[in-house]
Amino acid sequence: MLLCVRVIIEPDSEAASRRAAKFVADLLRKKPDCVLGLATGSSPLATYRELIRLHKDEGLDFSQVTTFNLDEYVGLSSVHPQSYRQFMQVNLFDHINIRLTSTNVPDGRALDFETHCRQYEQRIHDAGGIDLQILGIGTDGHIAFNEPGSSLGSRTRLKSLASETIRDNARFFGGEAKVPRLAVTMGVGTILESRRCILLAFGDHKAKAIRDTVEGPVTAQVTASALQLHREVICILDQPAASLLTRRDYYADVEKAQSLLEAGQLKQLGIGGQG
Ligand code: F6R
Repeated sequence: MLLCVRVIIEPDSEAASRRAAKFVADLLRKKPDCVLGLATGSSPLATYRELIRLHKDEGLDFSQVTTFNLDEYVGLSSVHPQSYRQFMQVNLFDHINIRLTSTNVPDGRALDFETHCRQYEQRIHDAGGIDLQILGIGTDGHIAFNEPGSSLGSRTRLKSLASETIRDNARFFGGEAKVPRLAVTMGVGTILESRRCILLAFGDHKAKAIRDTVEGPVTAQVTASALQLHREVICILDQPAASLLTRRDYYADVEKAQSLLEAGQLKQLGIGGQG
């Protein structure tokens, strides 16, 4: 691995999603009992579709996998059509051979959220930690529901949604008024403990958040920027989401070097040369 924050820019979101799914599939083949951190929303949808295809066409096996979702709306039961539990069932879990008991989504209707959040963290810890965390990013730069101003050391807890997020998600609820105001969410600190993160962003409405995340300062005002402190982050973007990055040529050079490294073509990188 050459870089802490790798930036992979694909021609379109479909290619980017296939790339993301390949990272997941490679991990599963290497470590069949791996722990995946999962996101909801539009960004990971095509990645999940590709994972379903790999399961159906190539027998990609999820039978030993454990999953932890990032977040859930407060007040929605697990069978509410807009709950993140339902999203995961419909868009992934119902189509692969994962054991339902190995899938974890925070409970939006917990009676005691403090205890529930502590137990969620404990379950992640007991599972051995998250091997690979998939992330989307909000237009305000949030990861999970860690809205601007969230502590970069935060753990799973209740969080108020920002007005920008309520506006962005109103389309799923048929109006802003119907969007829940609170969510249970993994904290930035929880996410930073995962061994590898894949951040997906597609479309020009994500371009500013991606620029701030990758090339801006680390700040609680853009919680995704905390990923700069993570040991292994891979941002997989389409062209529009990458359009405001100023170092695109450099990221392409790094990817070329990374491919040579992975192909064992060390000489072309000047590794092992003489003189
Ligand atoms: C969802 C989540 C959110 C979304 C973000 C982007 O589990 O954690 O942070 O990833 O709001 O949403 P989309 O992908 O719908 O643009």
